[in-house]
Amino acid sequence: MSADRRANLPILQAEVEQPILLEPVAPILPPVAVRASGVCKYYGPYPAVSDASLHVEYGEVVVIIGASGSGKSTLLRCINGLESITAGDLEVLGITVEDHNDVRHAVRLRCGMVFQSFNLFPLLTVEQNVSIAQRLVKHRSKAEAEERSMAALERVGMARHAGKHPSQLSGGEQQRVAIARALCTDPELLLLDEPTASVDPELTRGIMELVAEIAATDVTVLIVTHDMGFARAAADRLVFLHDGRTIEDGPVAQVLGNPRHVLTQSFIKKARL
Ligand SMILES: Nc1ncnc2c1ncn2[C@@H]1O[C@H](COP(=O)(O)OP(=O)(O)OP(=O)(O)O)[C@@H](O)[C@H]1O
Ligand SMILES: [Mg+2]
Repeated sequence: MSADRRANLPILQAEVEQPILLEPVAPILPPVAVRASGVCKYYGPYPAVSDASLHVEYGEVVVIIGASGSGKSTLLRCINGLESITAGDLEVLGITVEDHNDVRHAVRLRCGMVFQSFNLFPLLTVEQNVSIAQRLVKHRSKAEAEERSMAALERVGMARHAGKHPSQLSGGEQQRVAIARALCTDPELLLLDEPTASVDPELTRGIMELVAEIAATDVTVLIVTHDMGFARAAADRLVFLHDGRTIEDGPVAQVLGNPRHVLTQSFIKKARL
C-alpha cells in the first residue's frame, strides 16, 4: 500500500491500544578471539581465578603476567576448554564457552596449548607425540602426520631427536616438542604457558622468533610468562593478574614502563630486580 493511501485510512483502535513491543536487542559485539568477563574458577571453596577479564583481538599477541599462584595457568585452561568456569562470561573464537563438555571440546579442537609441564606421552617417541594429535584431531593419515611432524620438529630444531622418548630429553627440548605438537594441529588460537621457562637465553630468542613467525600468519597467541624480556619482545598487549583478578591490561610499553595500578607497579619493580 502506498504511503498516501495509508495516510488517508482511519487509525484503527487496535493500533492505538497495542503498541508494538520491541524485544530488547542484545548488543552485537564484534568477533574477538577471546572475550572473558568476570571469569571465576573455584576448586571447592578455593578461588584459583576470581574475576578475570580479558579481550584478545584476532591476530594479537597478548601476554599474561603475574605472581606464582595468581591463576595464569588456570585461566589458560579455562580458555582452552579444559576446565569449566564457575562464574562469568567466556567467549573463545566465537564460541560461548558453557559448562558443557561438547562445547568445551569444540573450543579445544581449534586451540593449541603448550602446557607448563609439557604433558608429553612418556611411552611415545618425539615424532609419535607430535603426530598423535594430528591423527586424532585432524584425522590425518599416518604418512601425512609424520611428514608434518618432521617439518614442525625441524622448525623448532628437534628433528634429530624424533626417535627419542621424552625421558631422554632435557626440559627445554621437551618444551620445543610440545610447541611443535601444538603447531601441527593448525590452531587458530595458540596458548603458551611459560614457553621459555626451561630454555637458555639463546633458545629463548629462538622461541621469540617462532612466536613472531606464528603471529605473522594470523594465529592469535596468548602467552603466560615470568620472563619480562620475552614479554616485552613478544607482546602487543600485557595483562597483569593478581590473586585471580585482572588488575591491568594495556599496551606492553605502557604496562611495563608506566604501570597505572599500585599492584602492577610493585610487581614490575620486583620483576626488574
Ligand atoms: N586442580 C586444582 N585444585 C586445587 N587448587 C588448584 C588447582 N589448580 C590450581 N590450583 C590453585 O589455584 C591457584 C592458581 O594456580 P595456577 O596454576 O593457575 O597459578 P599460576 O599463576 O599459573 O602460577 P605459576 O606462575 O606458579 O605457574 C594456586 O593457588 C593453585 O594452588
Ligand atoms: Mg602456571
